[in-house]
Amino acid sequence: MTLFDRVFGGNDAVYGLTEAAIDGAIAQYGEDAAVSFPDTAYSLPCYYAVTGSKVTNLKELKAALGVVKTLMTREKRLNDAFMSGVATALCAEFIEVLKYMNGAKPYEEPCYGHLADAIIRELGVPLVTGDIPGVAVILGSAPSTEEAVELVKSYQAQGCLVTLVGGVIDQCVEAGLNMGNAVRIVPLGKDVTAVIHVVSVALRAALIFGNVTPGDAGALMKYTMDRVPAFVNAFKPLDDVIVACGAGAIALGFPVVTNETENIFRVPKSLIVQEDVSKFNATSIEARDIKIKVTKIDIPVSFASAFEGEIIRRGDMQVEFDGSRVDCFELVEAKDASEVEDHKIEVIGPDFDEFEVGSKHSIGYVVEVAGKSMQADFEPVFERKFHNYLNCIEGVMHTGQRDMIRIRVSKNAFDAGFRAKHIGEVLYARIKNEFDAVVDKCQVKVITDPELCTKMRHETAIPLFDKRDDRLATLTDESVDVYYSCIMCQAFSPSHVCVVTPERLGLCGAVSWLDAKATNELDPQGPCQVITKEKPIDERIGEYEDVNEAVKLYSQGALEEVSLYSIMEKPMTSCGCFECICGIEPFSNGVVITNREYAGMTPLGMTFSELASMTGGGVQTPGFMGHGKHFISSKKFMKAEGGIERIVWMPKELKESVAERLNETAKELYGIDNFTDMIGDETIAEDPETLLAFLTEKGHPALGMDPMM
Ligand code: SF4
Ligand code: NI
Ligand code: NI
Repeated sequence: MTLFDRVFGGNDAVYGLTEAAIDGAIAQYGEDAAVSFPDTAYSLPCYYAVTGSKVTNLKELKAALGVVKTLMTREKRLNDAFMSGVATALCAEFIEVLKYMNGAKPYEEPCYGHLADAIIRELGVPLVTGDIPGVAVILGSAPSTEEAVELVKSYQAQGCLVTLVGGVIDQCVEAGLNMGNAVRIVPLGKDVTAVIHVVSVALRAALIFGNVTPGDAGALMKYTMDRVPAFVNAFKPLDDVIVACGAGAIALGFPVVTNETENIFRVPKSLIVQEDVSKFNATSIEARDIKIKVTKIDIPVSFASAFEGEIIRRGDMQVEFDGSRVDCFELVEAKDASEVEDHKIEVIGPDFDEFEVGSKHSIGYVVEVAGKSMQADFEPVFERKFHNYLNCIEGVMHTGQRDMIRIRVSKNAFDAGFRAKHIGEVLYARIKNEFDAVVDKCQVKVITDPELCTKMRHETAIPLFDKRDDRLATLTDESVDVYYSCIMCQAFSPSHVCVVTPERLGLCGAVSWLDAKATNELDPQGPCQVITKEKPIDERIGEYEDVNEAVKLYSQGALEEVSLYSIMEKPMTSCGCFECICGIEPFSNGVVITNREYAGMTPLGMTFSELASMTGGGVQTPGFMGHGKHFISSKKFMKAEGGIERIVWMPKELKESVAERLNETAKELYGIDNFTDMIGDETIAEDPETLLAFLTEKGHPALGMDPMM
């Protein structure tokens, strides 16, 4: 048999199964029955991405199968094999979507099946920063459970997102491996067709971040090849269906590494035989040209971004530090070089061994840095990174910031030898690694002595936080001379540029003006560049000649004019990783905001995913705007259209989280008390009529404003 025979044979087999499954579903539900994956704006994302048509019911699905058939040409040329691979993938998507008919929930723990659009949007930032350097797709059963777990953990330790299909899932369950999206190990499903759920992620990334036009299959494949760092590890035995799926993966630019030696054909850099499973990782990383950030830190547990979302339950914790109950704090202080001894880690107070299992204590840690180019403005920028650094430790969970932190250390980490000084080691190593351009020397004090924690919290930390807050309050768009561009997201959204100002942070929520300033000074050729603002064109919408020039330059000409304060006129573009999306609500002359975490309906008749799909890819879309959570309470939020007074609806949780600052702004700008009481949420209204009645009853100011359109 040739490779062609195997691909074509596998494709034909899956096609037959798909046809039977669709016919069966039509017989059962009728051809008008609706079909779609849940929590996506793209219905059947792969079929939509490849063809540009949205399938909505079984009749259309059957017609779509006819389109798939046209891809299944049988000449023995490479392109025919690739297209049959793509056809196999689409058939897999059809088979999978049928499992979701009638609101069924076909997957149960630990398997995920279809992944929501919101999960893909969350992946945006870690993918562009290289925190997720690659996406591994592991298929089939490893020769042994040990080898399965070792391979999965090797990718996890590098920060890769690991997706699992087939027998390897049971092997990981058997070994008791902690799995889930939070630790970047995502079991998709046990049938081989479940592999489509990761293909769907790659193709939606092209639509969401890349502004690829659905149906432009050439652009789609170029996008996945150039920008989605995925690869496949397939264990023997490989049947023809897997070989056909593999052809589809290769068509998208994803190399396949296998230990199958029989009846297999090697294709350099694409289909690679590696008999030694312990070398799958190295072979795959090399084949896909992935660069792994290595962080060597002297601690007894793993350190990787894959552990960032790890949760430590009460029963699993050795010790807890809780700033809401006792005095805790974390702090960065710039010092004179003579006061800092590089790599000195000091523990002041009892170590973890002296605490009872499960007990609560005080902790404080001060990272003291010195360097010729160090500035006080960098202190909070470094400090905000602590959350990420400590969370990346396997077995350590960190929440909060400043003096409201909570840290849990797991029993497993403690048993492995993790102690107070290792917190210092991690902070030292990460600060030196990430900020070496300005930090010449760094030392860390970890304080567990409760009296000293109390004293330092009140006498050192809080006064310093207050001082910083005063500084932040004086930072306005008018008070600074320059803004910054950020093009970090261009890895995925090639023409997207964020303009970051003191009162408008990047839409991902992760880059404030101070962050951008620090990034620029740490890496002058890097993603954040200075933008002057000396030549105003229109102060009302926040348009400047120099900002336009910068945006044109950094978007490679894709974007010519941008305003800072308007959602209607020349609005800023979105990449795809925005925390929130805002869209106009015509009945009330207002805007509705919803956030990634909220999966429910909005009064616009669209969910977050659907709204989010209206914008993105670095394109201007008046009426829709992606933005960070913090921007909601800014005096510059949609200033051109009247500002925050336009906000008529937000999900309850979001509303509560921004209430304090939003109410303050409303009071200051318009003299309104408790403005958030006038804003609707899902418990009040999910449709425009009910919302309008509520707004009228509350006398919401938007009702009296000019229409936006
Ligand atoms: Fe991406 Fe904008 Fe955030 Fe930069 S500021 S990382 S470009 S979303
Ligand atoms: Ni106190
Ligand atoms: Ni982005």
